[in-house]
Amino acid sequence: MRKTERLAAMRFSSKTCVVTGGGSGIGRATCLRMGAEGGNVVVADLHQDAAQATADQIVSAGGRAIAAELDVGDSAQVQATIATAIATYGSLNVIVNDAAMMTFQPIVDVTEADFFAVMKTNMGSVFYFSKYGAPHMPPGSAIVNVSSVHAHETTANVVPYAASKGAIEAFTRGFSIEMEARKIRVNCVAPGAVDTPMLWNNPNVKSGAEKIEGAVGKPEELAAAICFIASDDASFINGTTLVADGGRLDIL
Ligand SMILES: NC(=O)c1ccc[n+]([C@@H]2O[C@H](COP(=O)([O-])OP(=O)(O)OC[C@H]3O[C@@H](n4cnc5c(N)ncnc54)[C@H](O)[C@@H]3O)[C@@H](O)[C@H]2O)c1
Repeated sequence: MRKTERLAAMRFSSKTCVVTGGGSGIGRATCLRMGAEGGNVVVADLHQDAAQATADQIVSAGGRAIAAELDVGDSAQVQATIATAIATYGSLNVIVNDAAMMTFQPIVDVTEADFFAVMKTNMGSVFYFSKYGAPHMPPGSAIVNVSSVHAHETTANVVPYAASKGAIEAFTRGFSIEMEARKIRVNCVAPGAVDTPMLWNNPNVKSGAEKIEGAVGKPEELAAAICFIASDDASFINGTTLVADGGRLDIL
């Protein structure tokens, strides 16, 4: 093997990367990959212990990371996380909006509170991180929003979630145009079924109402897609959605 082939890519060297949902699943795998590739990682999550565990793993492996506890649906907490990232590392280059929640009821039964909680957590978080993060980001920065195959094909009883993910993809297209002059790229990655607590805790999956047809991805496979879109390797990719689903949408 040639020496260059043995060297890990260091696509995030001296870049500060804020990843929400970094305490578990896809967000956690993304943090670990960005940390391994030289990034200053801000592991942001509702659960401080989980965020700290991810950050500790990055630091133990020789990387740079801090944990930040926040509710992504809270504007003040999002702004505080952005301020912490900049105060700690002096820059903000990558934002990955990964944290999300679901409800499992038909629309006529879902409460208004639950509907707007999904919208605020999933879509509001993208708005807050875009509105308050983008002004600090230099040219060459990237925002990656994690949507879902549910933005394209869905099932009963998860309409608020599917609607929020569709909104994220539309927001991404429009916001990418607004950011073009600033040379900040804004894209989505839409996962299919991925082996995380969110998948296996889904009552529709447990009951078989939502069939897991085809491959189940590993969090690391989604992290690879997210890190590609967030990196300069994707410098000509903007305003789009990369579906990373092992071909699931072709089956549904
Ligand atoms: N796993 C799948 O099959 C699948 C499929 C399609 C899309 N997705 C999307 O991938 C993303 C990550 O999902 P995952 O499967 O890794 O889930 P996960 O449950 O493993 O991790 C989600 C993380 O987000 C955090 N979180 C939840 N609400 C939060 C809030 N309000 N503020 C801050 N953090 C919060 C949780 O604490 C958790 O650590 C989500 O956007 C999800 O919609 C997942």
